[in-house]
Amino acid sequence: MCGIIGFTGKKEAQDILLDGLASLEYRGYDSAGISYFKDTGKISIRKTVGKVADLRAICDDENNSTCGIGHTRWATHGGVTNANAHPHKSGKVSLIHNGIIENYHELVETYDLKDQLISETDTEVAAALFNKLYDGNPEAAIQKAVKLFRGSFAFCILFKDQPGTIYAVRNVSPMVATYCEDGSFIASDLTAFIAYSKRYFIVPEYHILTLTEKGIVLKDLEGKEVTPEYLEVSWDVTAAQKEGYPHYMLKEIHEQPAALTRTIAPRIKDQLPDFSEDNIPDSLFEHCTDITIVACGTAMYAGTVGRTFIQSTLHLPVTVSIASEFRYEEPVITENSMVIVVSQSGETIDTLEALRLAKKYTKKTLAIVNVKGSTIARESNYVLYTHAGPEIAVASTKAYTVQIASFYLLACKLGLVLGRIDEKSAREFIGMLQKTPDSIETILKQAESVEHLTKRMIHAQDAFFIGRGLDYTLSMEGALKLKEISYIHAEAYAAGELKHGTIALISEGVPVIAVATQKHVYSKVISNIREVKARGAYVILLSKDEKITDKSICNVHIRLPETPDAFTIFDSVVIFQLIAYYASIGKGFNPDQPRNLAKSVTVE
Ligand code: F6R
Repeated sequence: MCGIIGFTGKKEAQDILLDGLASLEYRGYDSAGISYFKDTGKISIRKTVGKVADLRAICDDENNSTCGIGHTRWATHGGVTNANAHPHKSGKVSLIHNGIIENYHELVETYDLKDQLISETDTEVAAALFNKLYDGNPEAAIQKAVKLFRGSFAFCILFKDQPGTIYAVRNVSPMVATYCEDGSFIASDLTAFIAYSKRYFIVPEYHILTLTEKGIVLKDLEGKEVTPEYLEVSWDVTAAQKEGYPHYMLKEIHEQPAALTRTIAPRIKDQLPDFSEDNIPDSLFEHCTDITIVACGTAMYAGTVGRTFIQSTLHLPVTVSIASEFRYEEPVITENSMVIVVSQSGETIDTLEALRLAKKYTKKTLAIVNVKGSTIARESNYVLYTHAGPEIAVASTKAYTVQIASFYLLACKLGLVLGRIDEKSAREFIGMLQKTPDSIETILKQAESVEHLTKRMIHAQDAFFIGRGLDYTLSMEGALKLKEISYIHAEAYAAGELKHGTIALISEGVPVIAVATQKHVYSKVISNIREVKARGAYVILLSKDEKITDKSICNVHIRLPETPDAFTIFDSVVIFQLIAYYASIGKGFNPDQPRNLAKSVTVE
């Protein structure tokens, strides 16, 4: 939700800001803007509705400023207009913001700011308040202002009479910073300045940062200086680039074998799951009576796979909650319940709040998170990092498969600790998990044939994904992928449930993507497929059968590799991702930046 960047240093700022914004664009692309100090000491703003490329087109080629801030917006308060685009300006202040100031109406009334506002945004109110409280001492104004805000915020602020200096402060909304030989950088996430530094620190909440060409000073709200805790990432700028692929999404789909290997390999010792390097003790799993999995969107669907797998193999009660509902549905959690939250970004606010609530009931909280040092990772009692590398495309792909692999590793460990599986079967299971990257490689070789079959789908208004058991849980992710990037209305149904209503929507030519890989329900799924086929559906069937020529079953058959039932989902989901990707580009859309969406959802 909104990407922010600031730079002050020895180099010209404009390209650093624009390139940084381009890499943050997955956070929002409704409008973009920069503000910077001119040599006259004045602050200049350029902003426009549209993408970073539109902003670049209106920027001044001659701009040699070495200090500025930039923003890419995902609209919350106020429509997509130039006036609502950031940066905002009020008196001596120009600022950018990620988050929501919930009490902005109250602040307008209390501090009589109405006449100073030209936009509909909460951010402009914040700018007006900072300006009102500013008497030449930026830190004092920030100290006073942040105590008045209710909500989430990451601000980068320029004060007109403090040239060359950026001030920043945050609560909840993420921000990282670094000082390196080129100067001082601050951004919503590291991808924005990874080309300059692999070292960074997470900006602590309610601390004031002063960034200059010479360094960064970090102080708490009492004015006491604090030493930033620097971290270092193992990936570099190429991981955040397209590397020859036309879109990030396609690149990330192809990165899945490597991401899986990185996630699985360090957790295996002696062919058994081992989390000692993650500091996850066996005691976490001991006496576990039940599991609640909480997450949003794709991460929640990965949790649904986790639930079906754990419950059916370990006979342990597992529930999955949508994070935004969890807090309001009186969750039943005891001290022996384990709560697993799942989040690629580690910043999704609903998931974070769910975790905070869960911690009131149990110490057995575990986060499956991709972004190192993110808020959810820091606040959870235990963390299992997925090592997918940066995921830039808005639609999640590689994060989903590594989340499922994490659930499989956890399930295996849990089964051993609770004595529900023996070491021999655990070793066999781990051996099969280790083969998933190779199996996905085989699927990726068929990418072109998937492209071909989507040509039939792009004119569809609706599509259905059906399956049973693990195939059903997977279908939910298939439907989400298709609708979010191709805008074809798609729904997932447990194959046996269709005839209880939804089958009324099946008419001539409606695409139904059916999955039949689970032996124990295979014949039942095939019967369900026949039911839709008989009503005119255009059926694409994914199964491990050698060949299906029976036209009363399907129009197209995609043969999956002969992997054990619990593992075919890794192959099927890659087909789903490719279907969604090619449907999106077939319809002329940009799959990396679907309309209305942003990758990291930091508003409730
Ligand atoms: C869909 C997608 C979203 C995210 C969801 C949770 O492709 O990416 O549904 O999965 O917003 O995000 P994280 O995992 O960052 O908490």
